[in-house]
Amino acid sequence: MPHILVNKHKDIATPSNYDDVAFQFIAKSSKENKVLVETENKKFFLNMKEKNNNILVKIDNITRISPVSIVKNAINAYGKISGSKILFENTSNLSKKVEPKKEFLKDIEYFVNDFKTDKEILVEVGFGSGRYLIHQALKNPDKLIIGLEIHTPSIEQMLKQVNIQGITNILAINYDARLFLEFLESNSVNTIFVHFPVPWDKKPHRRVMSVDFIQESLRALKPNGTLELRTDSPNYFEYSSQLLEHFKKFPSKILKNKDLEVISKYETRWKKQEKDIWDVIITSTVEDKILDIKADFSFDTNINIKNLDLPNKPVVKKDFLVHFENVLTIEDYGILIQLTMGSFNKPISKYIIVANGKASYFQGNPIPTSANLKAHKLIKSFLQENKCEQ
Ligand SMILES: C[S@@+](CC[C@H](N)C(=O)[O-])C[C@H]1O[C@@H](n2cnc3c(N)ncnc32)[C@H](O)[C@@H]1O
Repeated sequence: MPHILVNKHKDIATPSNYDDVAFQFIAKSSKENKVLVETENKKFFLNMKEKNNNILVKIDNITRISPVSIVKNAINAYGKISGSKILFENTSNLSKKVEPKKEFLKDIEYFVNDFKTDKEILVEVGFGSGRYLIHQALKNPDKLIIGLEIHTPSIEQMLKQVNIQGITNILAINYDARLFLEFLESNSVNTIFVHFPVPWDKKPHRRVMSVDFIQESLRALKPNGTLELRTDSPNYFEYSSQLLEHFKKFPSKILKNKDLEVISKYETRWKKQEKDIWDVIITSTVEDKILDIKADFSFDTNINIKNLDLPNKPVVKKDFLVHFENVLTIEDYGILIQLTMGSFNKPISKYIIVANGKASYFQGNPIPTSANLKAHKLIKSFLQENKCEQ
């Protein structure tokens, strides 16, 4: 994780610019300060946290962006503009690396608002090294291959290969596949691959495969489209086979030790150990209803931040939750609310900026799942209670 350690210093002036990096405002709390950065059409926060009487500067995890070179650049610009002494840095190895092509890395906003294609779509969940994803892209030049991954270095590694091999039909996204599947258009996908998902034997709620995930996959798949799990874990195989019990009207098959045309990094390891490998394949048979989620994530205007009284414990409802984790102040005109919201197994973390009476989600609205919409309504009501009397 790129970071610098600098001497304690006065707050940098905001708004200000250094090296094409704009610093818009500083939000403050007793835990840490955050500066809003805008550069190369991306917005994110850098956190400044006290450590042994010095200041550690790094990207705010919730607002992480790719590629990492943009983050390093911003941190270096902060170091310069703060005028303080740099005690440690791991941000200077910028230019030697081949940068991944950014046009093939999309953010969630793109998929929520702009994504359209006439091509057939294949999706791979948790592509890791990307070997199988790239194989699919080369084998199916007329299809669009969407790769979902939550591990940033894997994404950057895979995108380098896209660069080197001149591939143009991959779109990668750094996002939890379980959430992504919830808003993907119905009947739009040909195949969903889930190869060697993390077994999470001790935390099964974190598994990708679940009744909800299969349900959403079947909805997103075209009739005859398939969801294809491949695993070396006897537990995961057993667990997934049991999930099929909920989907008896859909044809499914189980294969053991089937060879694929290309072997992923994980599979190479398991093959060496002579482990069994299972495929669990379930086929969609019906045309599903079009998703009809009314995605209204608006807030009222004239929010009075002075009277805010947000609960500091999680508010847990039947099928969603809202947890206001931290409230930071932005000079005398606003606040930055850090919160967790949505469903229990896959809550999302977001920021809301409330400034001059108006509120909005930072880095765009939450994705339009039903749990997020319910959570939003509750958040809105908490902010509304503090509305100015006009
Ligand atoms: C064991 S690795 C397998 C990688 C690759 N499929 C292979 O066969 O080599 C599992 C991958 O899934 C990713 N992953 C785990 N949970 C995920 C989720 N909810 N959404 C997207 N990717 C996820 C992990 O970051 C990891 O790279």
